[in-house]
Amino acid sequence: MIDAKEYLKRMSAELDAPIRSYIGDEEPDNLMEASRQYPYAGGKRMRPAMAVACCRAVGGDASKAVPLAVAIEYIHNFTLIHDDLMDGDEKRRGMDTIHIGYGMPTAILAGDALFAKAFQIICDLDIPAEGMRDVLRYVSQAVWDLARGQQMDVNNEGQIVTEDVYIETIKLKTSVLFAAAAAGGAIIGGADEATVRAINEYALELGLGFQMFDDYLGVAGDSSKTGKSVGNDIRKGKCTCMITHAMRTIEDEAVLEEFKGILGNMDATDEQCLRARQILEESGSIQYALDLAKQKVDNAIAKIASLPESEDKEFMIALARFAIDRDV
Ligand code: IPE
Ligand code: MG
Ligand code: MG
Repeated sequence: MIDAKEYLKRMSAELDAPIRSYIGDEEPDNLMEASRQYPYAGGKRMRPAMAVACCRAVGGDASKAVPLAVAIEYIHNFTLIHDDLMDGDEKRRGMDTIHIGYGMPTAILAGDALFAKAFQIICDLDIPAEGMRDVLRYVSQAVWDLARGQQMDVNNEGQIVTEDVYIETIKLKTSVLFAAAAAGGAIIGGADEATVRAINEYALELGLGFQMFDDYLGVAGDSSKTGKSVGNDIRKGKCTCMITHAMRTIEDEAVLEEFKGILGNMDATDEQCLRARQILEESGSIQYALDLAKQKVDNAIAKIASLPESEDKEFMIALARFAIDRDV
């Protein structure tokens, strides 16, 4: 059995140099520094590792997928910078977020700069023109969808949306970038259309489970481990499947009122956020979300059943399990 964490660590070590090689010492310094902060700090590197693994799992040459892996990580980091600004979060990867450290204008520009750099890097891909077009279609569609998903996420704040709307939101804001990494890797590896489609669907399902678990960590995680603020989703009234479940199952009126009083209250104290978490535990809403995330991960693994056995396929399976079994 492959240990996804170990494998990610190994892949990160290999991807670190390419990830650090694209932002030179241009002017102005503060924009360069701000653009470097997240990619250099390194997160879990799940998306770039996925791009490389999917390329190799279909028999491709992994080194050809490296520029795509870097580009996807830059796009991911661009979206994190803008996401932190939009969410008003102050900590990421244990450090001040970019808008806190450099101010809002630089945060917007650093995101834009990383976004542009990603497409410059994709231009370096050493693949036939048709594959290049397909990769570009996946990646650009992902960023477009991601913008839609992020807008839906913001629109949902303070609302109680249905579970279907929640799932559509997280598919767009999170899954599609995993899917572009995976499908892009498979295309670079020379996979046929049906295989690319299966790998794309694997990543879409994985992404759903991943974001559901992320939402769980946002309520019940340990910020000293996640490196992100915990409790803010409650304060902002982010509508996750835990919240929809709680709203439809809590029968005790007093508890429901107490819960509603905390949810969406930007001034809620840490104790109140803890109480909201306790209510979500008692209503079974946390377990419900974890079970749903597990279902998505099982779906993801089933999608790649027909891929030939290989170490990379094993990693893809382990990565799907890791998506919902992590403290970071
Ligand atoms: C965080 O993604 C943003 C979400 C889509 C929830 P990751 O948890 O993959 O972030 P890093 O790259 O490991 O920091
Ligand atoms: Mg956020
Ligand atoms: Mg957000």
